[in-house]
Amino acid sequence: MSLFDGRFIQRLVVLTGAGVSAESGLPTFRDSDGLWEQHDPMELATPEAFARNPELVYRFYNSRRAQLAKVGPNAAHLALAHLQRAFPGEVFLVTQNVDDLHERAGSSQVCHMHGELLAMLCSACGRQSPTAEPFDGATTCPDCASPGSLRPDVVWFGEMPYHMDEIATRLADCDLFIAVGTSGLVYPAAGFVRTARAAGATTVEVNLEASDTAGLFHTQRRGPATEQVPALVEELLAGR
Ligand code: OAD
Repeated sequence: MSLFDGRFIQRLVVLTGAGVSAESGLPTFRDSDGLWEQHDPMELATPEAFARNPELVYRFYNSRRAQLAKVGPNAAHLALAHLQRAFPGEVFLVTQNVDDLHERAGSSQVCHMHGELLAMLCSACGRQSPTAEPFDGATTCPDCASPGSLRPDVVWFGEMPYHMDEIATRLADCDLFIAVGTSGLVYPAAGFVRTARAAGATTVEVNLEASDTAGLFHTQRRGPATEQVPALVEELLAGR
């Protein structure tokens, strides 16, 4: 248990978005240089887009996966991993990010609600298999050997995010909810602050600027994640 803003905190939920990885060199989605400013998400991140033009979708995700090898975790990822190790209560980390920077920073638990770039999903056998390599419609499923059945194991618009039951359970039982680097525009993640507040949690937003849901948070920490997250983690561990 730790003291934060005058309240005892035992169970934390931390939600991260693309902003936590921005200073590692990965583009966000909706900032001026963001992925969805340069590409139409309806052509790349829906089941219909994949059915229409699978090669384009494979290329997009293969290129994002290749990009991961060129970047590393930053001070915000490292601070959250430290928090998970050192906090005397529970720290549940849920990310909308499909990168592996939380894992590479040493996080002990990461819930990838939008899936992972480093995995493929077989639509024939339903298995998820790890991959660091490019793959496409010619790649055979390593589990069932089915040809042409693999897709990136990421959640597309119109699909149900992963692990929603576990996330709901954690939110319903948390004392502190922290959202880092997310625009608050994509549901269900954008609604987590409401669920946490309904559970009586204190809520903190860390962002360069006000997100779409900024008004729902008790406290705002404005600035780059690499500065704000380590400072917040220090406060939580100091029990102030
Ligand atoms: P967005 O691109 O929508 O928002 C990124 C947020 O991070 C913005 O609010 C920025 O102000 C903030 N930000 C940028 N750089 C930052 C920094 N250095 N420090 C702190 N904050 C910073 O990304 P998400 O909210 O993660 O889903 O997007 C949510 C989902 O929309 C993604 O998971 C993806 C996308 O479509 C799917 O593909 C299904």
